[in-house]
Amino acid sequence: MIEASAPAKVILFGEHAVVYGVPAIAVPVSSLRAYAIAEPNSIGGLQITATDLEQTLPVDISARDVDNALITTAQLVLRTANLPAPPLHIRLHSSIPMASGLGSGAAVSTALARVLSQAIGYTLSHETLNHIVYEVEKIHHGTPSGIDNTVIVYEQPVYFVRGTPIQTLDINRPFTLIVADTGKGALTRIAVGDVRKLFDSDRVSTEKLLNQVADIVVQARTCIETGNLETLGRLMTQNHALLQQLTVSSKELDQLVDAALGAGAIGAKLSGGGRGGNMIALIRDSNHEAVNNALIKAGAVRTFITQVR
Ligand code: PMV
Repeated sequence: MIEASAPAKVILFGEHAVVYGVPAIAVPVSSLRAYAIAEPNSIGGLQITATDLEQTLPVDISARDVDNALITTAQLVLRTANLPAPPLHIRLHSSIPMASGLGSGAAVSTALARVLSQAIGYTLSHETLNHIVYEVEKIHHGTPSGIDNTVIVYEQPVYFVRGTPIQTLDINRPFTLIVADTGKGALTRIAVGDVRKLFDSDRVSTEKLLNQVADIVVQARTCIETGNLETLGRLMTQNHALLQQLTVSSKELDQLVDAALGAGAIGAKLSGGGRGGNMIALIRDSNHEAVNNALIKAGAVRTFITQVR
């Protein structure tokens, strides 16, 4: 039996703007993971079972235009290694909530690609794996910036600029985030498309907003590297206001952000594609219970705490 895994992620700064070349910052959430377990398949052939979806798929390596992320992942690994499909049964399961901006799709693909490459004895570099998962992300997201696959594959805090080599971030002083789920699923692809429409219809104003996000992300990097958490929180809240103007927040997200700030969070913002999904709040250890209670009262269906270190 061979096992592999990959973490969830949250975007701290710069989502959406990152699509236009603005830097963004994302961190892995190592306590939430997708797992892949490979065992010999007595009936022959390569089979993948998505345990959480109760779905089993046979993999045909020669099939073209497959609109399925799991089969595409396996195909890309086997084509990269130039090897035939092995007689394996791979089971996938995940503790990462789906469709909520925590990178569940990219994490499942990463875990699957890792277990399959180990099983066939092919060493996948981080760089090649990152490229494979990026190709798979295109199935769900259309034109992803690449931030999700990068932070998940490398499992390190990243300062990400589209199309440039990975830059990892040093966390000077660990900090604590509460992640809260609106319970409303939202398609990143649609929010990204709406920002594109805004950009095309009013380029001057939209570019102004994107430049303001860029300033915030650059300052946030310095705060993370110097441990200035008070300013970091303020920048998060400012980034949220710009995301509102980019039209990707929602009533539910705004309510959670306001509730967190009202209960003493240092800063708060939506995280990821927006319109639904998750928000994050930077908290002091002394007030995590108050912020958590306020988030639940304001409608969060699920919360969890993660340490960024
Ligand atoms: O919804 P998520 O967490 O997958 O975030 C997507 C981040 C965006 O910046 C909105 C899109 C992208 O491709 O970077």
